[in-house]
Amino acid sequence: MKTIELTREMQKYSDSSRSKGKKIAFVPTMGYFHEGHIELMRQAKKMADCVVVSIYVNPTQFGPKEDLSRYPRDFDRDSERAKEVGVDVIFYPSNKEMYPEGYQTYVNVEDVTKNLCGLSRPGHFCGVTTVCAKLFNIVKPHIAVFGKKDYQQYVTIKRMVADLNMDLEIIGLPTVREADGLAMSSRNVYLKENERPSALTLIDSLRLAQKLYDQGERKASTIISQVEKFISQSPYTDIDYVKICDPETMRDIEKIRDSALIALAVKVAQTRLIDNHAFGELI
Ligand code: PAJ
Repeated sequence: MKTIELTREMQKYSDSSRSKGKKIAFVPTMGYFHEGHIELMRQAKKMADCVVVSIYVNPTQFGPKEDLSRYPRDFDRDSERAKEVGVDVIFYPSNKEMYPEGYQTYVNVEDVTKNLCGLSRPGHFCGVTTVCAKLFNIVKPHIAVFGKKDYQQYVTIKRMVADLNMDLEIIGLPTVREADGLAMSSRNVYLKENERPSALTLIDSLRLAQKLYDQGERKASTIISQVEKFISQSPYTDIDYVKICDPETMRDIEKIRDSALIALAVKVAQTRLIDNHAFGELI
């Protein structure tokens, strides 16, 4: 497995792989791997001849009061795990390499970023789309793999790729969970032992929403208020949002007709967690 730190070198590597007819799959990450990241790499490996994983904690997607400086990092451990899965290249750029002096170009996807995390994290998705557009130009993959845990991110990236005619395919894969149902996240390490039961209210409330749906409830506001009530009964929880939306446009819906996504963001003590569920899918 190679580690490449320079954009020019990464581009050369990809040009050479492409000229040999190899299919490149790309998994962008911010590192501190958990089983969710590893599963994306395993699936990427099945879909292509060459797997590139980027590790880059992208400053432009963090707000001024967010956890950029304390975001967990462990390059050596990540590198070991990627090697075990059979990753071919880790792209590991510096901030200087990604945003050199004079940098001033940003990609903004409009409508689908307006709701949910876009409301509570202004500028976040602009940082995500900008860095992904850059990474796609640097890694030149045929396919890029994203987790549906960050559903709005997945939809936003698909929109950007379609709108800007980027020549790659975006693949979305299901959320990987801990044995107790908590969606895996690099931020789970922030949780103290006594906060963990409160963190489980996210998955339990999604199960409650599915149960209400199974009983025939279709009114979004009824399901949302039950979910909010359930979560707020637990200590340390502070709800950012609970929304039921159209899984393509990300707009709120009042009545569930065809497909609908319930998405939530909850602060458990100091840790902001997100999760989602598509009605009808099994959890
Ligand atoms: P990060 O949070 O490191 O996640 C990297 C990829 O792993 C994303 O596609 C994310 O959706 C996926 N992922 C995270 N937790 C998952 C889980 N429990 N199950 C399945 N997939 C999971 O998302 C980012 O980084 C950044 O915003 C990035 C796209 C790299 C741009 O900086």
